Amino acid sequence: MTSASRKILATSALPYANGPIHLGHLVEYIQTDIWTRFQRLRGHEAYYICAEDTHGTPIMLKARDEGLTPESLIEKIGGEHRRDFADFNIAFDNYYTTHSEENRYFSEFIFEQLKTKGHVDARTITQAYDPVEEMFLPDRFIRGTCPRCGAEDQNGDNCEVCGATYAPTDLTDAVSVISGATPVSRDSEHYFVRLSDFEPMLRDWTGSGRLQSEVVNKLNEWFDIGLQDWDISRDAPYFGFEIPDAPGKYFYVWLDAPIGYMASFRNFCTPRGIDFDTFWAPDAPAELYHFVGKDILYFHALFWPAMLHGAGFRTPTAVFTHGFLTINGQKMSKSRGTFIRARTYLDHLDPDYLRYYFAAKLNNRVEDIDFNVEDFVVRVNADLVGKVVNIASRCAGFIEKRFQGQLSGTLPDPALTMRFYEQHSTICQYFENREFSRAIREIMRLADLANQYINDRKPWIIAKDDSRADELQAVCTQSLNLFRMLITWLAPVVPKLAERSGEFLRHPITTGNALDRLTEPLLNHQIGPFARLLDRIELEDANAMMKDTQFMNENEGNNSVGKHLQDDPISPEITIDEFAKVDLRVVRVNAAETVEGADRLLKLTLDLDGEIREVFAGIKSEYDPQTLVGRHVVMVANLAPRKMRFGISNGMILAASGADDAGGIFLLSPDGAAESGMRVR
Ligand code: MSP
Ligand code: ZN
Repeated sequence: MTSASRKILATSALPYANGPIHLGHLVEYIQTDIWTRFQRLRGHEAYYICAEDTHGTPIMLKARDEGLTPESLIEKIGGEHRRDFADFNIAFDNYYTTHSEENRYFSEFIFEQLKTKGHVDARTITQAYDPVEEMFLPDRFIRGTCPRCGAEDQNGDNCEVCGATYAPTDLTDAVSVISGATPVSRDSEHYFVRLSDFEPMLRDWTGSGRLQSEVVNKLNEWFDIGLQDWDISRDAPYFGFEIPDAPGKYFYVWLDAPIGYMASFRNFCTPRGIDFDTFWAPDAPAELYHFVGKDILYFHALFWPAMLHGAGFRTPTAVFTHGFLTINGQKMSKSRGTFIRARTYLDHLDPDYLRYYFAAKLNNRVEDIDFNVEDFVVRVNADLVGKVVNIASRCAGFIEKRFQGQLSGTLPDPALTMRFYEQHSTICQYFENREFSRAIREIMRLADLANQYINDRKPWIIAKDDSRADELQAVCTQSLNLFRMLITWLAPVVPKLAERSGEFLRHPITTGNALDRLTEPLLNHQIGPFARLLDRIELEDANAMMKDTQFMNENEGNNSVGKHLQDDPISPEITIDEFAKVDLRVVRVNAAETVEGADRLLKLTLDLDGEIREVFAGIKSEYDPQTLVGRHVVMVANLAPRKMRFGISNGMILAASGADDAGGIFLLSPDGAAESGMRVR
C-alpha cells in the first residue's frame, strides 16, 4: 500500500541567536524531526529546513555587552546551536541563517510587492527614546511604576501585579533598562502593513482545516478584535536589513524571520538543482508545513500567510502549533534551576531517551507537556529497554551461538505476525497526524504481545533439548521479526537505536523507504552478533543532569572545559606592521567592581602610568573583583572606546580563553618587576 510520493517541506521556528538551545526548544525540533523522518521512511520527498534567527535589538545589545560584532555573536551561537541539533540527531536538510543574501533578497522582494500593491502605509509615530543610548526603546527595555496600581519596576507594556496593559509612555518614573536614563518621546516615520486588507483571504485560509481547532478559536478572537496594522520597520541602530530607499530604517526582525524559511530553502535548492517554485509558487504542488510554539502563532497564522499571499507566493498547507514544556510541573526558569540546556542534557544522557519521552507525550493539540525526571527514567527504562530492546536480547544469543546467526526459513506464528502488520496503517496514520503518543502506545502494546509470545514459548527451555533445535530457531526468528517491525516503526523517534538495531539485524531500518518494506519478513537471513543496543537510564545520571542545570543556572554559565587549537584555529596571517598598530601596555588594576545587571562583566579602573582608564571586562564568572586589585595586567591601550550597555569601555585587557568563552578565562600578567605604562613588545 504505497501511496504516491508526496513533496513535503517542513520547518521548525528559527531559534534566536542570542541564547542556548534548551529542552523547551527541543520539543519542537524533535517533533518536526520525527515527523519528517517518518515521511522520508515512507518514501516521500520530505525536506526539513531551519535557520538561525539573527536580527533585532536583543542580539545587537548582547553582542555589544560581550564586546563582539553581531556577526561574530551569531556565528558563535549558531555554531553551538548546530552542534546541539546534530547531537540530538535533528536531521535538517538545511540549517542556514537569516543574515544571508538570499534572505535580504526575498525580504526586499516581498516588501516591494506589498508596497506596489498598496498594502504598506508610512506614518509618523511617537515612541520612547533613550537619549543616552540614542536609540528607540522596544517595550521590553523600559521599566517603571504601573500607572494603575503603583507597583514599582514593572514591564513597559503590562503590570505583573495588577495585570494592567498600557503604553510604555504611560509608566510613571520610566527608565531605560539599557542606560538607566529617563526615556523621552520622539517621533519617527514607520512602515505599516495593512493587515486588514487581507482579512477575507485570512478568514478563508484559516477556516479551511489547516489549523487545529483550538487555534481557529484563538484566531476568531483576533478577527473579532480587528486586525491591526503591523509595524514592520525599526530605526537605527538596529541589526538587520536596511530598507531600500529608506536610510536608517530597518526591517523589523519578525518581517525577515519567516522569510528565512524561504531563503534557507533557496540556499538548499540552488546547488542541488531542486526546483524552488515547485514548493513556493502560488499553485505549487508541494505541501508546506510550519511547526511552531503557541507563543508565535500570530506571526505564522496571520502575518505570514498575508505576506506570502500579498507577494504572490503560495500559503502554508498547515501550521502545526504545540504547547510549552514544563519541568517537574514548573515553567522553565533559571531562578528555579529548571532551565535545562540541550548541552547539559547531552553531557549526561543519550538523546534517544529524550526523543522517546517527548514522542510518548506529544499529541496534535496545543497542550503543554511536562518533563518529570522520575517519570522520564521509569518510562524510558520500562518501554524502550524493558519492552523493545528486551525482545532482541532474549533471542539474539540463541541465533548467534546455535545457528551461526542464521534465521529460519519460515515464521512459526503467522497469525501473530499478521496482528502486527494489521496495525501498520493505524500506526502510520498516528504519525501522519502527529499523534505520536498514540503511535507509541500502540507500538508498546505490540511489544507486550511479543514479550508474551517469548514468555509462552520459553526459548530458554527449548534450548535445553537438542532435538528441538528447529523450533528454537523458528521461535527466535519469529521474535526477532517482531522486534524488527517495532524498531522500524520507532525509527523516526529513536534513530540511533534504530540504526544500531539495523546493524545487528544486518538490515537497513533508518534509510530508504523502510516503513514501506515492513511486510517483507527476514527469513533465511544472516544477522550480526548482538551488542547491547541501549542501556537503562540510571536515575543518578538524570539527577546529575539536573544538578548541573542548577549549577549552570546559578552561575550563568561557563563550564570549564579547555579549548584547543582544533576548536579555535589560528586567524589569518597579519604583517608585523599591522601588529605594530596594537599598543599593548602594562597597567595596574586600581579598582574592580561588579556591574549591576551585567551577568559577565566587571568594571575595572586601570592605572596606565598615571592615566586612569575604565574598562569593562567579561571575566566576572572567573574572577572575584577583590583579588584583582593591585594586580598588573596587559591592556590594549589604543583601542577605540566602545559604548557598552553599562558605560564606555576605554581599552581592553588581555586574557586567554577559548573562541566561545566556554573554556575558562585566564588573565595575562607580566612577570615580577614590570611596571605600569611599560610597552609590551
Ligand atoms: N525566533 C523566533 C521564531 C522565528 S520563526 C520565523 C522564536 N525563537 S525562540 O528561540 O524563542 O523559539 C523557537 C521555538 O521554540 C518557538 O516555536 C517556541 O515556541 C519554541 N519554544 C521556546 N520555548 C519553549 C518551551 N518551553 N516549550 C516548547 N516550545 C518552546 O520564537
Ligand atoms: Zn499594576
